[in-house]
Amino acid sequence: MPRISYVNGRYLRHPDAAIHIEDRGYQFADGVYEVVAVHGGRPIDEDGHLERLGRSLGELGIAWPMKVRPMKVVMGEMLRRNHIHHGMLYIQVTRGVAPRGHAFPDPSTASSLVMTTRSLPAPDKETLGRGVTVITIPDIRWERRDIKTIGLLPNCLGKQQAVEAGAFEAWMVDGDGLVTEGTLSNAWIVTESGELVTRHADRAILDGVTRRAVLGLAGKRGIAFHERPFSVEEAKDAREAFVTGTTALVKPVVGIDGQDIGDGRPGKLSLELLGFYLDHVRDLCGEA
Ligand code: PDD
Repeated sequence: MPRISYVNGRYLRHPDAAIHIEDRGYQFADGVYEVVAVHGGRPIDEDGHLERLGRSLGELGIAWPMKVRPMKVVMGEMLRRNHIHHGMLYIQVTRGVAPRGHAFPDPSTASSLVMTTRSLPAPDKETLGRGVTVITIPDIRWERRDIKTIGLLPNCLGKQQAVEAGAFEAWMVDGDGLVTEGTLSNAWIVTESGELVTRHADRAILDGVTRRAVLGLAGKRGIAFHERPFSVEEAKDAREAFVTGTTALVKPVVGIDGQDIGDGRPGKLSLELLGFYLDHVRDLCGEA
């Protein structure tokens, strides 16, 4: 079965899917994106992703490429044409194609919309719960990390550093020694005294859809949490740590910079929240 991708109104065989060389996404990283998880053939937290896409577009003054309802139709059609049961859907919108120039092009320039999909293995609690390690690196990004832009070079460099260090993720650290987030996930700890903490969502981090879902699930189960910054030292002294993200889901962190977290095994609350999150996904996609 050929893989199909969507480019500006057309469903194309993936090898034929291409964008113009003067697309502003290609030349200036002038665009935004979303990665939506797919389980049971359904996009998970679709509205949350589309709301955030709208926010990112609005902050940068990029026009929606189409209304939300037809966008959902294209998303569904991509999953159908590619027979995606478990996997992810990538959505990218850029300011469109125009002769290269830093200032915005003529307002009549159409935004570009691209979608791709990929199948991934079904989420498995045992595999996810095994625990991963992270390293810490300086956060060298711009000051609007709340906007999900395609300008991801610092994230790519950080993730590569993590891979080379044999770690899953790199937690980025601001000038005050406080952890902002991972290169593709949000960062969480359970402090020595048992407090569940993740950084508050301001301009320093991306407000993850998974982060919000996990906060909601914690709240619903009566688990107290605090949205505040935490330092690398506090993280290393923590009882537990974990990451959340669309592709990472919920993953316990068992080591930071080579130092064990707690007893070096996945923490109890992290595993509990992983279980709640997988139940939540199952509820949303209607699978038992
Ligand atoms: N990344 N922080 C950063 C910097 C991210 O890039 C992501 C997601 C997250 C988690 O957000 P969410 O829970 O909405 O996926 C946090 C996506 C998955 C990516 O770039 O592949």
